[in-house]
Amino acid sequence: MLYFDNAATSHPKPEVTWKAMEHYLKHVGCNPGRGGYAGSIEAGKIIFAARERLKTLFNAPSEKQVIFTPNVTYALNFAIKGLLSPGDHVILSSMEHNSVVRPLRFMEKHCGVELSIVPCDRTGRLSPDDVRRVLRKNTKMVVLTHASNVTGTILPVEEIAAAVRETEAFFVLDTAQTAGVLSIDFQALGLDFLAFTGHKALYGPPGTGGFVVSERAAEGLIPLVQGGTGSKSDQEEQPDFLPDKFEAGTVNTVGIAGLGAGVQFVLDTGLAKIREHERNLTELFLTGIKEIPGVRVYGPEQMDERVATVSLTLNGADLGEVAARLEAEYGIMVRSGLHCSPLAHKTIGTFPTGTLRFSFGYFNTEEEVQTAVKALHTLARQYC
Ligand SMILES: Cc1ncc(COP(=O)(O)O)c(C=O)c1O
Repeated sequence: MLYFDNAATSHPKPEVTWKAMEHYLKHVGCNPGRGGYAGSIEAGKIIFAARERLKTLFNAPSEKQVIFTPNVTYALNFAIKGLLSPGDHVILSSMEHNSVVRPLRFMEKHCGVELSIVPCDRTGRLSPDDVRRVLRKNTKMVVLTHASNVTGTILPVEEIAAAVRETEAFFVLDTAQTAGVLSIDFQALGLDFLAFTGHKALYGPPGTGGFVVSERAAEGLIPLVQGGTGSKSDQEEQPDFLPDKFEAGTVNTVGIAGLGAGVQFVLDTGLAKIREHERNLTELFLTGIKEIPGVRVYGPEQMDERVATVSLTLNGADLGEVAARLEAEYGIMVRSGLHCSPLAHKTIGTFPTGTLRFSFGYFNTEEEVQTAVKALHTLARQYC
């Protein structure tokens, strides 16, 4: 089987990921921060190591500012529901995932938050000037995906971050499609909230993710979940220090053990090497399918402007059927439809049918991509 759905979750995971999980379950097994005995201390060290590696990867100011959640969706909900109040204005792009759009629509409907959705062009590009134009006095938050999970388009976050830094607004970045592939410097960008998911290019297991939070955002951020932290147990109120303020209840220790190993894999391999490999695969794929009659590719042509996610349509064919045939006849796994991003499809003109999405990962090979190209050539002939 050939797996090209790395934008949904990466597969396979490096051996170090599942070895670390096995080690925790077999040899540690205890609850971090909940006891003074060796097993609990060892579990705490595993969590701390994962925090430290994420701090290094994102250049976070301290490991305490790295908070774990079950995925990036929870992290984004934390930011959106924990920072916004009635009357606040929020800016987002028209390429956002439903993990941003749905909580914001909820806040608009139930909490009097006002939204400005800045339109991207049909390749998913966002103009920093368009964002600047809608910044207002009461803009509390700008929330953006770093790269689209539909077209792979990378948004100009450096320029937008610079504009946001001139205001009081919080800048929230959804790095679901870029963490582990592109360099993201929390401090240089002046981010307030970097939301990440663990199970994509950070090579952790499903059920892992989190956020890096700035000191000023952490101060105002309401902890949406309260409960036991293993610290200040004499108090009935949630501790106000990091990371405990935002980590109530037992963390996913086995998942974080895997995530920590996955992040170490990224650090050891190097972002440049990972990006280069994925970029080559994407270029090979795009070049190979360019001349296929009836195939229309979405997203930018320039490799510097995109990650390894390619959306296409095929001459009005039912893309669910094409995906099923790719699997049945060629052993190729891809995703068809809206990829949880209806707004992005409205932007690029593929709503409501969506696209066929190929997303490559570090473990894909050129040979695998060539097989996909050949399969598309053969299938396309049958739909013309
Ligand atoms: C841009 C973007 N944001 C958010 C998500 C949600 O990720 P998770 O399911 O890990 O919360 C995804 C997943 O596809 C994504 O691509």
